[in-house]
Amino acid sequence: MKKVLFVCLGNICRSPTAEGVFRDLIQKQGVDSWIHVDSAGTSNWHPGKAPDPRTVRAAHQRGYDLSMLRARQVNAHDFEQFDYILAMDQANLEELKQQCPSHFSGHLGLFLDFASASNLPEVPDPYYGGSDGFDLVLDLIEDASQGLLNHLLKPSS
Ligand code: 4NP
Repeated sequence: MKKVLFVCLGNICRSPTAEGVFRDLIQKQGVDSWIHVDSAGTSNWHPGKAPDPRTVRAAHQRGYDLSMLRARQVNAHDFEQFDYILAMDQANLEELKQQCPSHFSGHLGLFLDFASASNLPEVPDPYYGGSDGFDLVLDLIEDASQGLLNHLLKPSS
């Protein structure tokens, strides 16, 4: 079993999109029984909230249903449970590094390190921008999700 946690700031835009897109991909590939997916935010600004309506709408237009997801904050137990903790941007990665216990033996890094179609290192925060930002989030996340799955399917991962 591999366990993957996607992390952004609020857990209402980027990381729930990653959770929904990656879950859809692993279900379609028939590998969802051995990959567990979740998402969380470094902030505690939106606990228990559904994803932002603009995020839900943009994802729905590509066939992903994010309506059931609810926001939560990253906690100490996550570092015990997850094998891959993947941040949407550098600021959230730095925050996770501060919290990460020295005995963590998993992979803590940027999600877009698994992308191949774009040179962008980070998934830009769409919260204060227009609808184009939400489509870019989906483009980047779909690409990185395929790369992450390819990586997890390698015997050495
Ligand atoms: P996320 O986006 O980190 O992708 O969920 C944000 C959501 C909320 C806020 C900022 C970013 N906020 O300022 O409340």
